[in-house]
Amino acid sequence: MSKRFYITTAIDYVNGAPHLGHAYEKVVTDVIARGRSSLGEETFFLTGLDEHGQKVQQAALAEHKDPQAYVDELAALWQDFAARLNLSNNDFVRTTQPRHKQVVGALLTKLHDQGDIYKAEYRGWYSWRQETFLTDKDRNPDGTWDPIYGEVKELVEQNWYFKMGRHQQWLIDHIESHPDFVYPDNRRNEVLGFLRKEQLADLCISRPRERLNWGIPMPFDPDYVNYVWFDALTNYITVPASLGDPAILGALPALAAAFEPKNPPASLWPADVHVIGKDILKFHAVYWPIMLHAAGIALPRQIVVHGWWQKNGSKISKATGNIVDPIAIIEEWGLDAFRFYVLRELDIGPDGNWTDAGFAARYTAELANGLGNLVNRSLSMLHRYRDGLVPAPAADLAGEAATAVEQVRSQLARHELQPSLQSIWTLITRANQYVDQTAPFKLAKEPEQAKRLDEVLYNLAEVCRVIAVLLWPFLPATACRIYRQLGLDNEPKIGTDAAWGGLKPGHKIGRPEALFPRKDLA
Ligand code: ME8
Ligand code: MG
Repeated sequence: MSKRFYITTAIDYVNGAPHLGHAYEKVVTDVIARGRSSLGEETFFLTGLDEHGQKVQQAALAEHKDPQAYVDELAALWQDFAARLNLSNNDFVRTTQPRHKQVVGALLTKLHDQGDIYKAEYRGWYSWRQETFLTDKDRNPDGTWDPIYGEVKELVEQNWYFKMGRHQQWLIDHIESHPDFVYPDNRRNEVLGFLRKEQLADLCISRPRERLNWGIPMPFDPDYVNYVWFDALTNYITVPASLGDPAILGALPALAAAFEPKNPPASLWPADVHVIGKDILKFHAVYWPIMLHAAGIALPRQIVVHGWWQKNGSKISKATGNIVDPIAIIEEWGLDAFRFYVLRELDIGPDGNWTDAGFAARYTAELANGLGNLVNRSLSMLHRYRDGLVPAPAADLAGEAATAVEQVRSQLARHELQPSLQSIWTLITRANQYVDQTAPFKLAKEPEQAKRLDEVLYNLAEVCRVIAVLLWPFLPATACRIYRQLGLDNEPKIGTDAAWGGLKPGHKIGRPEALFPRKDLA
């Protein structure tokens, strides 16, 4: 039982339909997961939904629905969305599932039994919209509250607290001694800056039932439910626990009896990568590591933080109608065009700006004229001049192909997705130039050039094959279509299929068909 590469997305609030930001995060995570699998690693990719808390309760109320019925309806839509994105996820976690409630209960019980959770009175400013207590530091310079907090009221109540503050120095030390723990570096510096400057308080992890009842009950106090962030973060260990992972069951032995023993048990934890957006960094890089540390569970290896999408230079917002509907884009342009644009346009880290014109321009230049045209003319010529039979191997483009493979291998290992696509497109551009330079349509008219034409046709078919291998993590359906057009039916993987010379002489290729039809000509 060797440990699998375990990668997760944030779990989305089910208070509406999926949007561009959700789609982006899932695609990025899928590419990292597929990249590892392409390189020969066993992977496990988890995504899912955050179904408790104020936001969801209010959204259900607004539609006059019972919260469970409301989330059940939406969960079907979100699961369908994951399938539409062609995600390679191995499981889909929902925080209302019994397995998750059991894990949250076991974690809370352990922390309570060992004295890490206590009850105290709290008086403070509370933002209902953000579901969080505020302090005077959160006020605007003029003493007012930012409108993002909605209505802010003073509350006095008893609550349960998690002793988080005492782990502050330990966490600073951990982040300092693990330079890859938060990626990219500017986000790591942001966390360290915060931890060095602010005194970390204990975390309020309960909500009185009279104020919020849509949550997991505190196992030792039925008048309270668990704070939604404590509940949500725990999802990352729910699935390993339910699959019998000894790294979790060892720390929470009460769970061993709760789940059917698995043979063999999964080995997932510690997570290799949590992919999240920049707004939820503190929860993942401060609260979550301390929760795990207190419970005696190993920390995740890395938190990968992406930026936020805007559209036309301003915030995406339903209220102003400034939205990108990923489903509508996918229906109009195809899934892989959507995946390509978001990955090629935005590297992991900075914020991105969606424009419809930019999308159309990339589609035409890079997908239709670049990749699509290369594959289509290469395979069409092989049919026209050689009846679709692969000629004897030749290696004019072998060096350039090997360079691209090496670059993509190391870029994938470092989550450099945008640079990987640049490496692949350098090869595509080179191959298109090669067609123009060698002019196979002229060679075909000169019988004494038959051997040269064989060489050119081999180079083109083989370079298309290597390109498909490299593309698979990014554009899996397109990679498989290219493979099928080449008469190959496996899923192309870098670990096994990237070496030059995979196409064998005499092999009959399949039928070429347009991968990315030109929209401007239609
Ligand atoms: O925060 N651009 O859920 P969520 C890019 N349930 N990413 C965006 C984005 C945008 N415009 N808008 C949102 C939650 N995201 C919690 C997470 S994890 C234990 C609990 C990203 O539905 C956001 O940064 O508000 C987050 O990573 C994810 O979408 C879900 O956001
Ligand atoms: Mg959010």
